[in-house]
Amino acid sequence: MKINDSLEQGEQLSQQKPTYILAIETSCDETSVAIVQDGTAILSNVVSSQIETHKRFGGVVPEVASRQHVENITWIIEQAFEEAKLRPSDLSAIAVTQGPGMVGALLVGLVAAKSLACALELPLIGVHHIAGHIYANQLVHELQYPFVTLVVSGGHTELVYVESEGRFRIIGQTRDDAAGEAYDKVARALKLPYPGGPHIDRLAHEGEEAVPLPRAWLEPDSYDFSFSGLKSAVLAVLNQANMKGQQLAPQAVAKGFQDSVIDVLVEKSIRAVQAYGAKQLLLAGGVAANKGLRQRLAERCAEIGVPLLAPPMSLCTDNAAMIAAAAFLKWRRGQFSALDITADPMLKLEEWSV
Ligand code: KG4
Ligand code: ZN
Repeated sequence: MKINDSLEQGEQLSQQKPTYILAIETSCDETSVAIVQDGTAILSNVVSSQIETHKRFGGVVPEVASRQHVENITWIIEQAFEEAKLRPSDLSAIAVTQGPGMVGALLVGLVAAKSLACALELPLIGVHHIAGHIYANQLVHELQYPFVTLVVSGGHTELVYVESEGRFRIIGQTRDDAAGEAYDKVARALKLPYPGGPHIDRLAHEGEEAVPLPRAWLEPDSYDFSFSGLKSAVLAVLNQANMKGQQLAPQAVAKGFQDSVIDVLVEKSIRAVQAYGAKQLLLAGGVAANKGLRQRLAERCAEIGVPLLAPPMSLCTDNAAMIAAAAFLKWRRGQFSALDITADPMLKLEEWSV
């Protein structure tokens, strides 16, 4: 069957009655279950964050994360039904994050999703976590193709060209640390709590002076990123001040760091939008909550006359509604997963394309 045939068939199916997809997300430190109608209307999106647990370790401890997912998943599924005012028999499909992420954490969601799919005799849809972050935008905006997405999260920094619905091409990515990872490491050096992104963002806005730090532009035509040099530069500046017995204002360090990250993210995104003739620029992932980044991107997008789309803060960080939104692309095409799919910590976005 051709893709278009199955798309039409899927659309006919979804015209008959609403599609209710229950999605599960457990790839990192949020346990989340959502029920979304027709890929766009959130009926429930329950998120239980483990941040308080991991804070004392200064980062996510995989084994602890998996255990907490196990403890929480059942009541979160129940609450998702309650809030959506639906029964299991109302569902159309079960979606779950298959990867990338921590294998033990992913497995908890997969086992729960497979059990539901089996017991309710429903199709299972394994979802790529980053496709979820990108299609979180579909929950609040009308998407126009082609678009470019800047994906910035704790584990990923990518520029993704999406030519048509669900067809992903990575045109640039980080060669070392992800943007969120760099935020968290710099925050740690400044003795700020985990996750550090929001704290650095706040301090950067309080700072008037900025400690001068380098920008990693890489080759002139490259859409790749690199943040480990910047992180090392921050550590060197802090060490030097320490040795001289000087106290650097954390606001100035945060502002210097944030200005450097934002300069590179924004300019490469704008260049990609222009080079690829994108109709929209989408922002996705946890770092999309960054106020400085949103503001600068909005200004630059206004200058070139291209709309900037970003989800509200609650849909930027990990949540299951975004997984349901991405799963809907596969549902419409009748592209379901086998019940023996495994957690794939290295799942490739391009291969997940519809
Ligand atoms: O997408 P996400 O919830 O989890 C992953 O899939 O990685 O992203 C979490 C990351 C963390 O590194 C956190 O520090 C960062 O997003 N983050 C921020 C902000 N809010 C969250 N980074 C910069 N500024 C923020 N306001
Ligand atoms: Zn994420």
